[in-house]
Amino acid sequence: MTDLTTLRLDADDGGLDRAAAILRAGGLVAFPTETVYGLGADACNGRAVARIFAAKGRPRFNPLIVHLADAQAARALVEWSDAAEALATRFWPGPLTLVLPLLPDSPLSPLVTAGLPSLALRVPAHPLARALLARFGGPVAAPSANPSGRISPTTAAHVAAGLSGRIEAILDGGPCPVGVESTILGLTDTPRLLRPGGLASEEIAAALGQPLAPSGPGISAPGQLASHYAPAAPMRLDATEKLPGERLLGFGAVPRADLNLSPAGDLTEAAANLFAMLHRIDDGSTAIAVSPIPETGLGRAINDRLRRAAAPRG
Ligand code: TXA
Ligand code: MG
Repeated sequence: MTDLTTLRLDADDGGLDRAAAILRAGGLVAFPTETVYGLGADACNGRAVARIFAAKGRPRFNPLIVHLADAQAARALVEWSDAAEALATRFWPGPLTLVLPLLPDSPLSPLVTAGLPSLALRVPAHPLARALLARFGGPVAAPSANPSGRISPTTAAHVAAGLSGRIEAILDGGPCPVGVESTILGLTDTPRLLRPGGLASEEIAAALGQPLAPSGPGISAPGQLASHYAPAAPMRLDATEKLPGERLLGFGAVPRADLNLSPAGDLTEAAANLFAMLHRIDDGSTAIAVSPIPETGLGRAINDRLRRAAAPRG
């Protein structure tokens, strides 16, 4: 379906009222979060949730994150725990998603969890996301607002380029400050890092006072397919020099970079620039080389996304 007129809504009271009304009517609204733009639908409305999968071309086995206005709302949906309470108190609102056992009598559409007995939840920090969730007044299912398998959107223009004509509206809040998706932590057994993201895993481990278990094969977030976030052009990682015919996406003080994620070598700045620079450097054919990024803090999330972007296409 590509015949809708996609409204561009301003970041003001009128835009927020309109966005909440569209969600109530079962429509799809892309909205900014601090990580990336999400594609929101009423999580209790099965038809609305089904439209998310259709608009993105997303496989139905890949569950969605539910966005809430506050941590209190989580208790009606999942089996809350001491670890969840500690992490929510410390890091919500913010770029952390918690996966917890789903309560059997939750009002959510079963499509949200793709039939899994667990639910991914987060309370986003972006003021527009918070205002929209408060106005709507219920759980909002929202994957990243990109066609499945493409780079996540960090501006309203990225969303429009991928989903115009397929969704009712885009709430324009400018660029997303964090720039990579939330960190996903599994709390259904021992705390497990399911996806590195915008909150450094070291900070979570420190708050819990224990190391995080790695996501073993088969237990990672189901959406973590090897090839994902794919630019059209081939990519070469850990490139210490630019070869003939390549464009170089640099990090730190490297010579001849076409774009640089952070000339100062700052990982927070690099994360914020990552997807916008991947969008810009990709002309569909010229090979892309990327400087090495340290595997620490937000560098884990950046390297995870770069490895998927560079993986052979399935
Ligand atoms: O920052 C973010 O997390 C953004 C913004 C919009 O909130 N959302 C986002 O959603 O990245 P999405 O759908 O692109 O990625 C969600 C990931 C998928 O890999 C999915 O498989 C995983 O979360 N997931 C969802 N529910 C899960 C569950 N019950 N257990 C394990 N993984 C789950
Ligand atoms: Mg995504």
